[in-house]
Amino acid sequence: MVRAWRKLLSGGERGTKRIKKGCAIDLKAQEKLNVIIVGTGYVGLTTGLALGYLGHKVTCVDKDTAIIDKLERGISTIYEPGLEELLQDKGNLVQFTDKLLGNLPDADIIVIAVGTPSKSNGDTDLSFVEAVAQEIGGAMDPDQPPVIVNKSTVPIGTARRVETVIKEELERRGKSSNLSVASNPEFLREGAALHDTFYPDRIVVGANDMRALNLLRQMYAPILEQTFTPPQAVPRPEGYGLPALVTTSPTSAELIKYSANAFLAMKISFINEFATIAEKVGADINEVAKGIGLDKRIGTGFLKAGVGWGGSCFPKDVRSILFTAGQYNCELQLINAALEINKKQRMKIIEKLQQSLKVVRGSTIGLLGLAFKPNTDDIRESPAIDIIKELLDMGARVKVYDPVAQDKYRETYPEQKIVYCDSAAEAAKECDALAILTDWDEFWQLPWKDIGETMDQKIIIDGRNMLNCEELKKHGFIYSGIGR
Ligand code: UDX
Repeated sequence: MVRAWRKLLSGGERGTKRIKKGCAIDLKAQEKLNVIIVGTGYVGLTTGLALGYLGHKVTCVDKDTAIIDKLERGISTIYEPGLEELLQDKGNLVQFTDKLLGNLPDADIIVIAVGTPSKSNGDTDLSFVEAVAQEIGGAMDPDQPPVIVNKSTVPIGTARRVETVIKEELERRGKSSNLSVASNPEFLREGAALHDTFYPDRIVVGANDMRALNLLRQMYAPILEQTFTPPQAVPRPEGYGLPALVTTSPTSAELIKYSANAFLAMKISFINEFATIAEKVGADINEVAKGIGLDKRIGTGFLKAGVGWGGSCFPKDVRSILFTAGQYNCELQLINAALEINKKQRMKIIEKLQQSLKVVRGSTIGLLGLAFKPNTDDIRESPAIDIIKELLDMGARVKVYDPVAQDKYRETYPEQKIVYCDSAAEAAKECDALAILTDWDEFWQLPWKDIGETMDQKIIIDGRNMLNCEELKKHGFIYSGIGR
């Protein structure tokens, strides 16, 4: 291991790069692990940079050479606060390469963090995970097996499936090995990915053997014990205690990930459902959420009513667990309802526009926010997608502004006739109504009085309940939130 470490320090192979040494902690040689992370999406890249910062020797692998090229140049391939700072200044010895094979012999741990997209029936496409498993089985040294860790969100049984695929490959080579495949689900939120990695609530490790458990405990020791100096861009929150290490079977760990996401999605759908009744009876759902959230058994998180949940995880994971449940002839009624409520929730914006404008066709609607949440340029399953499509189908003219997600939206939906604007004020100009779809911080402080004066009609639909409705009303706006 030490030999390989020196080899990499002395220049490494083509396609790898040494990043300036960080100052997190000085892990002793026996504490330092050689970790390979396969896949450099949100989970892979964040985990790789964090573990590198914490002193492990990390190699991030991605087949996409364009991604590797950018990362080598210190350019982040995803928009995520703090990531580029870590990539450029603080990362320890993180390497980037498009080749898994050359790095395999020295690995203590291989983390699989490749994409697991949805199939059209809600099932999860495991082809990328299986391809990595095949590659590992085809090249690993059976006498020195690394611990394999599933970090991608994968259906129940995938740890076993990965083990089977690796075994089959080994058999093909006439070999066998004592394999350990663990499940270590990731709970990071986009926009707060590094924060959640350095300061998690808990770390879940699902493993059937002590070797895997011990190595993963060693890998996470600096986080479990909080022995590192926080990176400048990711300060330790005040009052943060030590995270729990929850050890389970691989199957429980796999189900924990789905249960957590399904529960949070359900919590948001719950408050959105109550937003509807709050509106009918004349209550304010923000007040209701506070009133129930302060009950510790309920908790204040994920009780913000709005246009509903989107992103790369909740929709996909909810569909995936519903699919799995269906295979077992088991109906998840609450989760089904959460999904249905969420579909309808997006259309609340359209209903409110119809109520206030009466005729939507021919009117100009300004939309603020395209990302599925703030602090990310991710537009996957964003409520904005359905709302824009509906408005265009209805014959409205649509003007949009998002601080970071515009380019991605334009690239993804080049055929849509949308007017992209450089500021919120520009998007609002000459509009019949303005709707807020993403709660970006900058929308708080907009000069609403001036903006109102440029609009054809001062109608505002606050799809995130983020604005001060009294102030807007003072400026002559007709304000409508969700459940207020
Ligand atoms: C989620 C989980 O939180 C994370 O643990 C998991 O690893 C990945 O999926 P993420 O999708 O990044 O993270 O974002 P999150 O902050 O959970 O928000 C998801 C969606 O719910 C967003 O569209 C957001 O706007 C919406 N949301 C969230 C609400 O509408 N109300 C809330 O109170 C919270």
